[in-house]
Amino acid sequence: MHDIGLLLLATVMGTPLAWEGQQDGRFVHNIVPSTGHETEQTGAGSTVLLSPHTEDAFHPGRAHLLMLGCMRNHDNIATTAASIRKVRLTDEDIAVLTRPALPILPDDAYADAQGYADGAPPPVPALYACDEGLTLRFDPAYTPLENADEGYRAAYGRLAAELARVSVAVSLAPGEVLVVDNDLVVHGRVPFVPRYDGTTGGSSAPPSASPGGAPAPRRKPASTATDRPPSKRTPPEHPPTDRRDPP
Ligand SMILES: [Fe+2]
Repeated sequence: MHDIGLLLLATVMGTPLAWEGQQDGRFVHNIVPSTGHETEQTGAGSTVLLSPHTEDAFHPGRAHLLMLGCMRNHDNIATTAASIRKVRLTDEDIAVLTRPALPILPDDAYADAQGYADGAPPPVPALYACDEGLTLRFDPAYTPLENADEGYRAAYGRLAAELARVSVAVSLAPGEVLVVDNDLVVHGRVPFVPRYDGTTGGSSAPPSASPGGAPAPRRKPASTATDRPPSKRTPPEHPPTDRRDPP
């Protein structure tokens, strides 16, 4: 019933999408700590900080909105959220970070996608300036920063530090839903000790949804001609009408 409620809510806010390689293509994913995956940078992890990231940052068709629904949270474990619109960066750093310098690789939850693409994933910009302001595409755990020059790494580090500075902690109660604007806000999770008795975590997350109603259309960070999906996606019943990538 919880999943149906989340999916209905997502349908009100946009067009839900699912991923063929994620949890059998289900629109609503169960996010629970998993034995043996404690230190992974995925929803199955627990004992390490889940680094702030854009959901599905590697994919040009990622969702505009992400919904996190809480089922259990006995230990008040917090989700973190940080908006690019609150950070302070110099014009020089923004100029560096809006250039496509590095690829973002599929995370460990996309085992199939990691071997799907024919060639190397293309470099993409971390920041993109649209009419409303900056948007971001940020996933440091899956960005090969060691391949960038020192100037880029320094600018990327300052962006990460600023996101940490403006980060807020959101501790959800059962039944509450957090809606994240995936173009503006990176989300993460503080470390916790899993109980593995069915009472820890248990957040059921998200049909990713693209806004079809209230939120204003927004451009994503630029995709390049070679920025093709490395993973197959279950097509939505009704194609979104407001998803526009820059030319
Ligand atoms: Fe996430």
